[in-house]
Amino acid sequence: NKIAIFASGTGSNYDAIIAAIQAGELDCEVALLVSDKPAAKVIEKAKQNQTPTFVFDPRQYPDKAAFEQEIVEQLQVNNIEWIVLAGYMRLVGPTLLHEYEGRILNIHPSLLPAFPGLDAIGQAARAGVKITGVTIHYVDEGMDTGTIIAQEALPVTNEMTEVDLQKQIQRIEHKLYPQTIQQVILHTNRKGN
Ligand code: GRF
Repeated sequence: NKIAIFASGTGSNYDAIIAAIQAGELDCEVALLVSDKPAAKVIEKAKQNQTPTFVFDPRQYPDKAAFEQEIVEQLQVNNIEWIVLAGYMRLVGPTLLHEYEGRILNIHPSLLPAFPGLDAIGQAARAGVKITGVTIHYVDEGMDTGTIIAQEALPVTNEMTEVDLQKQIQRIEHKLYPQTIQQVILHTNRKGN
């Protein structure tokens, strides 16, 4: 089960997935890290772990179709079966979706469909909700709109700052993402796909 992780930032979810694989809790191989941010911290982490990387600068391509075509080639060369978005700060376009529809997962730090898009934790904090959480879903052409696979709720207390909220959301993400990837991969393999 070869997966590619797509990330634009720190990569704490990348770390959590690698740790789950090393602990024998997740039966797959991170065979490629794709990043659209040449300065992202996650790239150093991937190099330390000897995860192959494909790093690109979108500004050097005429359009999204052009860089996604190159991503597709990299995925195919590396025999990637699943794409796991982990803080990839871009909408997936038709070029990638067409090749990997139904095999792209995303994690979002709210209980979708509440608070899609950027700064979901801040949005939830400002809205004063008493429950928020984490969602894992299949990716479609929309912004955080695909079919929901798993959710975990987190009660928000009056004492919690936005920083507390963020820490607790991350703790849930780092547990829920590896578990859900494992379930999705097992389930799909059992169906013989
Ligand atoms: C996570 O909160 C994830 O839900 C969101 O982007 C963040 C990525 O964090 N989509 P990290 O780079 O994995 O630390």
